[in-house]
Amino acid sequence: MKTFDVYPLYPINITHGKGAYVYDEKNTPYLDFYGGHAVISIGHSHPHYVERIKDQLDKIGFYSNSVQNDLQVQLADLLGKSSNYEDYQLFLINSGAEANENALKLASFHTGRSKIISFRKGFHGRTSAAVNITDNPGIVAPINKGFPCTFLEFGDESALEKELKNEDTAAIIIEGIQGIAGIYEPSADFLMYIQEQAGKYGSVLILDEVQSGYGRSGHFFAHQKIKALKPDLITVAKGMGNGFPIGGVLIAPHFEAKYGLLGTTFGGNHLACAAAIAVLEVIENENLIENARSIGAYLIDNLRSIPGIKEVRGSGLMIGIEMPGNIKELRSKLLFQHQLFTGSASDPHTIRLLPPLNVHQREVDICLERLETAIAGN
Ligand SMILES: Cc1ncc(COP(=O)(O)O)c(C=O)c1O
Repeated sequence: MKTFDVYPLYPINITHGKGAYVYDEKNTPYLDFYGGHAVISIGHSHPHYVERIKDQLDKIGFYSNSVQNDLQVQLADLLGKSSNYEDYQLFLINSGAEANENALKLASFHTGRSKIISFRKGFHGRTSAAVNITDNPGIVAPINKGFPCTFLEFGDESALEKELKNEDTAAIIIEGIQGIAGIYEPSADFLMYIQEQAGKYGSVLILDEVQSGYGRSGHFFAHQKIKALKPDLITVAKGMGNGFPIGGVLIAPHFEAKYGLLGTTFGGNHLACAAAIAVLEVIENENLIENARSIGAYLIDNLRSIPGIKEVRGSGLMIGIEMPGNIKELRSKLLFQHQLFTGSASDPHTIRLLPPLNVHQREVDICLERLETAIAGN
């Protein structure tokens, strides 16, 4: 059997990793400023993470959600404290798309409505409902178009109010920082306006923090730079398990749980919880949010002085570098000549940098040097 050929693959076989580096079978080191698609939060093969998972595997890897699982309780407690959402409830699943899928479902159950408002260039996943609210018609199959979704421009307050006035909107969903689009931050004023209007017209506010969450922006969640913002639902995945598949929905106290309302076979299993607990312990013990903020500021500042870059956007270690031309060749050169992994975006001019949150300044300096050399044409 062959694998289904849906990914344009680089001919590099990654066999192991350590910190901010990954290695191929010949032991060639690659500096990972892509984080395996914004997934690696505490670095590759962090010893505490490895030990926690191995230890859990020796005990039990999985049992179903039909029995009490103390690790879920521990994870919810720790996540509540780390994110400052102690009064919220946690539902665990396996991926970002599933997190959004369940958040949309909850919003629809809660309001009895089915229309969703999403934003231009937004990405929320590839499953049934999540892809229907993703602004990329090429990946939406006819079967996904099961409910109305209106896409609005960032900042368009009058269009938002016009839509909400019909009182048929179940939820407004927005990324903390748009990732795949090419790193675009919604303004604080616009986010506050959405919250206000959602409350006024009985709609639910969903903050998709799948990519921008877990410390990447220099705050636990990107939206937390605005103190008064309290979304009804917050979705997480990616950095939550540092590569172990796990996602979650943080649910405001006014949502009432009912047996059978949501469910999953694998979500919140013992091994996934052990991985997610280890991630939060490392983030706390090693002050990684502060590191993301300070190293990120250093990286952004220094990127701005590299000749040839058109614009640098972002916050913490979620950074977009906009070039005057298409970045395809530049990324290949960075990877094959300079052994530097970077991310692309749906905008063909933007490179994304998403390194682990414990990246060191010496690694940032190497990245800057390689970028400058490659951009200069060497
Ligand atoms: C903002 C955002 N939401 C949702 C998803 C979907 O996550 P997953 O690929 O884990 O389903 C992604 C993935 O890139 C994302 O960036």
